[in-house]
Amino acid sequence: MTIKLQKRTIEVLKNLRKTNKDTYIASNLAENLDIDYIILMSAVNELKDKSLGGFKEKEIDQVSLNDEGLLYLKKGLPERQLLNILLENNIKEISLDKFLKLSEMNKKLFFIGISYMKKNRWIAQSKATGENKIFLIAEEFPETELEEYLKNFKDKPNLDYSELSEKEKESIDILNKRQLIKKKRKTQRIIYLTEKGKETKLSEIEELDQVSKLTSEMITNQTWEQYELKPFDVNKPGPLLKGGKMHPMINLINKIREIFLSLGFTEIRGPIIESAFFNFDALFQPQDHPARELQDTFYLKNPKVAKLPEKDRVEAVKMTHENGGDSGSLGWRYKWDEDIARQTVLRTHTTATTIRRLAQYYRENDNPPIKVFSIDRVFRNEKVDKSHLAEFTQIEGIIIDENVTLCDLIGVISEFYKKIGFEKIITRPGFFPYTEPSMEVAVYYERLGEWLEMGGSGIFRPEVTYPWGIKNPTRVLAWGLGLERLAMLMFEREDIRDLYINPIKWLREESY
Ligand code: PHE
Repeated sequence: MTIKLQKRTIEVLKNLRKTNKDTYIASNLAENLDIDYIILMSAVNELKDKSLGGFKEKEIDQVSLNDEGLLYLKKGLPERQLLNILLENNIKEISLDKFLKLSEMNKKLFFIGISYMKKNRWIAQSKATGENKIFLIAEEFPETELEEYLKNFKDKPNLDYSELSEKEKESIDILNKRQLIKKKRKTQRIIYLTEKGKETKLSEIEELDQVSKLTSEMITNQTWEQYELKPFDVNKPGPLLKGGKMHPMINLINKIREIFLSLGFTEIRGPIIESAFFNFDALFQPQDHPARELQDTFYLKNPKVAKLPEKDRVEAVKMTHENGGDSGSLGWRYKWDEDIARQTVLRTHTTATTIRRLAQYYRENDNPPIKVFSIDRVFRNEKVDKSHLAEFTQIEGIIIDENVTLCDLIGVISEFYKKIGFEKIITRPGFFPYTEPSMEVAVYYERLGEWLEMGGSGIFRPEVTYPWGIKNPTRVLAWGLGLERLAMLMFEREDIRDLYINPIKWLREESY
């Protein structure tokens, strides 16, 4: 049976056989055969398709001279350059100062050279005459081992560190200490022939008259009929496209949106500039609560004062703080100050937006069930580092319904994480001033084998829901989860800032 190969591939095959080695480093081979690397690899791929050959990939530490090293390869190491100056000028002794001037070298390099001249026992140094002088003490100055080794880089500018002998490694280490070396991690392709590739008779291999492109010439002079068109291999990866695309965070947000929509939720949004009333007071957070302090919350100068909702609702919230109102609670038992509630803040959580939805529920005389979510920006006075942002996003939601329980809450949160790709979640007891019971939510992250904290949840306390007419057995299940934490896991980013600094390499790697 004959095997059909492209002309170029046949040539590569013949050359590989001629060299009579078992493996060939692709980049060296391309150089030896004087063909383009890409063309060589496409020939190798053709050999692979016909089971005649193939390639393996290997990570190597490639060592080469840096710019300074290359310079010394041409002009000699500084000690040799200095020696040549002495020999050319027939100098047997000279003061260091004069020598420095004569050498026209920079001072640092000069002294490096001097110290190696001493190490090589070419010169001695003495201050006996009062002057700091050097004396030529050797008669002959054969090449040092290091100099001899350096010359290797002339025909082989790139060495594979793992393939060097112990002795060679020592020389490399010395060059490295003298900072003349650079090391680079590289993936090397190793080409090989299979038994079939080595043994198939050349008479069984035929040249394939295939073209990958039809040219207008072929059509006008009608030669196209003689050619066979190379079939497309739809399994081969195409070239990397660097077109514009959605930011991964937008894609993720849209995915989350779709999950909640598919579960029957409606999206809500609320203002970024919020009143302390909705951000804190309506959440039964006492006015001296530490989370309200400047070090956690951004307060605004402009606008400085927020509008509050209906007077009677403000009164109802005030009552829950002072004595529990009609919620059955004793309240916090202090004098509630409306001016504090009018302060403007950058909302510290989207739970503020959720409460606005409760206010709407009251106003519009809504009936349960109500299921809403929001994916929106919040702000906290945090020091920004690899795991904290001062501006981030919460995935928030509530279910208002009769007789709903903690089990329903766990069910919805589990379902959400399952749909986004995390099978296992765990809930642990937590605390928030506005929920009882409260749960922290963590997901299991396979790659690290760890449980990672994702956010909080719980059932709103009567103190939170009663002012809006939501009373037992109607309850509000609520959660607030971190978007960026989730994004870090999904995009495998170690630094949370990457999500917004936008390293171009990462953005290119992410799918469309
Ligand atoms: N608002 C809480 C936070 O920002 C999360 C949460 C929302 C907790 C709803 C309970 C209920 O961490």
